[in-house]
This record gives sequence, structure tokens and C-alpha cells, in this order.
Amino acid sequence: MRALWQSCHVTNRLFYGDNLDVLRQHVPAASVDFVYLDPPFNSNRSYNVIFNRHDVMRDADSAQIQAFDDTWRWTPVTDQQYSEYISGELPNGVADALAAFRTLLGENDALAYLVNMAPRLVELHRVLKSTGTLYLHCDPTMSHYLKVMLDAIFGASGSIGGCNTAGGLVNEGGWGGASGSAGYVE
Ligand SMILES: C[S@@+](CC[C@H](N)C(=O)[O-])C[C@H]1O[C@@H](n2cnc3c(N)ncnc32)[C@H](O)[C@@H]1O
Repeated sequence: MRALWQSCHVTNRLFYGDNLDVLRQHVPAASVDFVYLDPPFNSNRSYNVIFNRHDVMRDADSAQIQAFDDTWRWTPVTDQQYSEYISGELPNGVADALAAFRTLLGENDALAYLVNMAPRLVELHRVLKSTGTLYLHCDPTMSHYLKVMLDAIFGASGSIGGCNTAGGLVNEGGWGGASGSAGYVE
């Protein structure tokens, strides 16, 4: 298997874990051509995986496990993270955007979600090549705030296409690196 891996010159790697840790610890700056992300939407729901093909669990009520929780709350931990982010841990423009969101929204679920997303989007910008492109998929719940956040990170001129809504379900925008270019997905 190892020989096959080497002979194919395969260099792709699959990481499992919190993407903030993975990005910070394993992905060098300016090394990525393309980022596509389908992050949590702040849908205020928990999503489950249902086992119904292999009879892993026969009781319908228990035949599922939680896949991920898309609920966000303003907590002392979030408050601490926010303070660190606006005190120099994140770039000035992003700190300004977070502070503006706090003024606008108050300390609530939406702000907790944005505090979670901010450092991850900053890291994705860091790892992107100047010719690279990032596409973000989300729904209208948070898309307008995410676009502002990405404009704060990439610069408003880096936005290509911005966000678009079709039938209230699809909402994608592209952001290019310093000299990047890209199409638009609807
Ligand atoms: C909207 S879902 C995307 C689902 C995926 N596109 C699919 O089709 O199955 C958001 C995903 O982000 C993952 N996620 C949330 N926070 C994460 C984090 N900090 N690091 C890595 N993945 C995370 C969740 O586990 C969930 O699978």
C-alpha cells in the first residue's frame, strides 16, 4: 500500500478534527489553490445520522447518533474568545468587523456563531495562494454577515460574485486572493 501511495505521487491528505487546529498546525501559508467550505449555518438545529441499512440499532428512536450541533450560544468562553480576537489575535479589519457586529447584534447566538467563524476564515485566507479562490456556501440566515466578514478579510475588492440566493436555498460567494480570479456558482 505504501509503495502504491509513493508510486502514484499522491500528496493529498485528509484531516479529521477541528479545522482551526488543522489549519494552524498543518497547512502552510499561501499553499492552497482552492477552498470550498460548507460550514454550519447557525440553523439552531442538531443533525443526526440514521442507521437503517445495517441494523446497527433496531430501535428506531435510538437508531441515530448526533452528527453535529448547529446551535450557538453566547457564553463566558465565547466572550473570552471575542476579547482575545479584538485585542490583537485577529487582524484589525476583522476585529473591527466583530466589534461592529457586537454593536449591531448584541451578545447573542448570531454573534457567537460569527466569533466561531472569524478565526477560521482568517486562517483560510492565510493558507490561500495569491492566485487562489475561496467559495463559501451558506444560507440566508448568516450570509450577509459572512460576506461582510470575508470582505474585511480579503478586502472588498477581493469579492467575486458575492452572495446570491436562489429559491432561498443556495447562497454562494467567491473571494479571490490578491490576484486571483474565479467564476461564480449559483
Ligand atoms: C453544513 S454541514 C456540511 C455538511 C457536508 N457538506 C455534507 O454534505 O455532509 C457543516 C459541517 O461542518 C462540520 N464542522 C463544524 N465545525 C467544525 C470544525 N470546527 N472543524 C471541522 N468541521 C466542523 C460539521 O461537523 C458538519 O459536518
